[in-house]
Amino acid sequence: MSLRTHLPLFNKTETPFYFYDLALLKETLHAIKKAAPKEYHIHYALKANANPTLLSYIQQARFGADCVSGNEIKQAISSGFSPEKIVFAGVGKSDKEIEYALAQPIFCFNVESIHELQIINELAAKQQVTASVALRINPNVDAYTHKYITTGLEENKFGINPYEFDAIVQEIPSLKHIQVIGLHFHIGSQITELAPFKKLCLKINELNKWFTQKGLDIRHINVGGGLGINYQEPDKEALVNFESYFSVFKQFLTLAPNQEVHFELGRSVVGPCGSLISRVLYIKKGLNTNFAILDAGMTDLIRPALYQAYHKIENVSAVLSEPLVRYDVVGPICESSDCFGKAVMLPQTQRGDMIAIRSAGAYGEVMSSNYNLREKTKSVFVE
Ligand code: LLP
Repeated sequence: MSLRTHLPLFNKTETPFYFYDLALLKETLHAIKKAAPKEYHIHYALKANANPTLLSYIQQARFGADCVSGNEIKQAISSGFSPEKIVFAGVGKSDKEIEYALAQPIFCFNVESIHELQIINELAAKQQVTASVALRINPNVDAYTHKYITTGLEENKFGINPYEFDAIVQEIPSLKHIQVIGLHFHIGSQITELAPFKKLCLKINELNKWFTQKGLDIRHINVGGGLGINYQEPDKEALVNFESYFSVFKQFLTLAPNQEVHFELGRSVVGPCGSLISRVLYIKKGLNTNFAILDAGMTDLIRPALYQAYHKIENVSAVLSEPLVRYDVVGPICESSDCFGKAVMLPQTQRGDMIAIRSAGAYGEVMSSNYNLREKTKSVFVE
């Protein structure tokens, strides 16, 4: 449904705010469940958006949760996610976070180094429990995405590298409070081609075999997340093609009969259903362009400033038949990087017009800050 339909609501709401289309979220959840074979477990990556309203919809669809902090685990549990479906990842888990996760107890820790494995073992011994663990392996597969969001290369800080495999396999039997139940992978985010996922599957097949031959009882293969969305044309492809995504794993992942597959999807679940809605404060004539100065800034949505990310920008109020004019669409923050888009062609735009910055449901609200002592960005929902 076009955002224009919601203009009366936008006009009477204080800006800026995140606008979430819950009908689209529900449709997305349904599409994922329909496309994923029964034996695939989907964990929603809370880091993409931990808004309690969205979380309640996602847990009602019976997804598990992928958490990267103690507070994310708390938020998941208080939103109704069951601890037995929570995986806990992160390259630097604190002792306090590990102790909390052990006490729930959660399904599995995704462990990133030998040292972390030893510390979890010690903390689990103190609580007299056994921690279930998946080894996060760095598969050295290029995801061909932005360098800040690629994670599966040896140069990245994530995961256990091949030169450490022998050492970790030797160490495991001495760690009495650790039970290795699986292998975990994640190669990056906003991956729009399926080829990297195929490469990942082939790599996993090799590693699955290797670790099994070394005596580990690998029951769970977690392939991480990373499926990208269409930022260029959000209306053309509001629903990601989950069928073809899962079919890569069905086709290329070789599993033993007792092995189960886990996914950690974030962006593809919540990205399309959110837009940042903002009012135009001022129009200013620049040397070669016009500036449309919004009341939303990089504090509300940092992706364009941090990753040079593209988000489609629309003037929801403007008369569409107006001639197109070129604008740099910027925010009010005292930083030149506070720019949502350069040379954006919009219908003649004026003070008070509503601007929608699309596909902002993932890594938008959750990455907002109060830099410049700005207020926390609010959120509005429609079914
Ligand atoms: N699993 C792990 C281990 C991850 O590191 C991530 C994302 C995910 C799952 C979820 O990936 P997704 O399905 O959302 O691609 N702030 C950046 C994205 C950072 C992604 C971090 N890791 C952005 O705005 O593009």
